[in-house]
Amino acid sequence: MEAQVSLTVDGEQRTVSIDTRTTLLDALRDRLGIHSPKKGCDHGQCGSCTVLVDGRRVTSCLSLAVAQDGVTVVTAAGLASTDDAGGDGATPDELHPMQRAFIDQDGFQCGYCTPGQVCSAVGMLDEFAAGAPSHVTEDLTGETELTDAEIRERMSGNLCRCGAYPNILAAIRQAANEEAGR
Ligand code: FES
Ligand code: FES
Repeated sequence: MEAQVSLTVDGEQRTVSIDTRTTLLDALRDRLGIHSPKKGCDHGQCGSCTVLVDGRRVTSCLSLAVAQDGVTVVTAAGLASTDDAGGDGATPDELHPMQRAFIDQDGFQCGYCTPGQVCSAVGMLDEFAAGAPSHVTEDLTGETELTDAEIRERMSGNLCRCGAYPNILAAIRQAANEEAGR
């Protein structure tokens, strides 16, 4: 069965007619030609397909595209501001602070897991700022400190097979400090 799905992806309004069994990841990559989110495991276990849906991180391989009709999707490529937002052929002219931090801290070694890591890191900092606890948060009533353990736990759904974790941690720390004005 086919259904029409409308999405705003990286600032651009897109409409596509798809089989209702199509995942958001396949709709983005195979139907809309947006290749920033990567297909790693296709089972929700590696995080390489992570995108931001209405500002929240989502593993797009686990989400049906029809369930996301009308949402706003931001991929790692779309995090950079463009001088042609929403238009064709937009060229990123300013990196998102998280993208810059990943470069500064050498937080990636391949292009495969990095888009998911960057999206997840942005979503994770927003979740933390909104007061969402993690599995390692000890005090659920007070203010939580963004410790290394908190960052690692909150990023544990994003795997990196080349072990760039210390640099990814440093990158998120840099972006978090910038956000806090430190
Ligand atoms: S491809 Fe979606 S979590 Fe691995
Ligand atoms: S940097 Fe991509 S798997 Fe590690």
